[in-house]
Amino acid sequence: MERTFVMVKPDGVQRGLVGEIISRLEKRGYKLIGLKMLRLTPEMAEKHYAEHRGKPFFPGLISYITSGPVVAMVWEGKNVVAAVREMMGATDPQKALPGTIRGTYGIDIGRNVVHGSDSPATAEREINLFFSPEELVTYDRNLDVWIY
Ligand code: PPS
Repeated sequence: MERTFVMVKPDGVQRGLVGEIISRLEKRGYKLIGLKMLRLTPEMAEKHYAEHRGKPFFPGLISYITSGPVVAMVWEGKNVVAAVREMMGATDPQKALPGTIRGTYGIDIGRNVVHGSDSPATAEREINLFFSPEELVTYDRNLDVWIY
């Protein structure tokens, strides 16, 4: 089964959206296999967003993402990487469709509530950055037969 990395960003935590975001993914049928709350150090933030180093928004992005605790998660399921991207909506909440997470809860690109991996390869890299293998829990759900 495919896996993706999802992070509720500091604004999402402060605004009490952790439960809502988990709930949306749970109700869709995806399976939560890793979860932790942490505050990113600048070093870890720069590693996570390494591909954006040098872009004009990079310093602001690093100070935003390190400004408070985040909730990091690993979700599993069929086509979960693309599905989570769809459920989050466009990076800029102004362009996100109504009903998506960002289209419902966001206004500004610099406070867009949630992060999700943009490809399976990125997901693997991001999962490995935030979680050790023993922090990921594999388990059976009796309801899988009702989802697949
Ligand atoms: S790019 O240049 O198209 O590759 O960038 P993009 O994929 O749109 O965004 C990369 C991540 O940077 C965040 N971002 C910003 N943060 C703060 N301020 C501004 N102006 C800004 N523009 C982009 C964006 O939310 C992406 O973070 P994640 O966590 O992946 O959503």
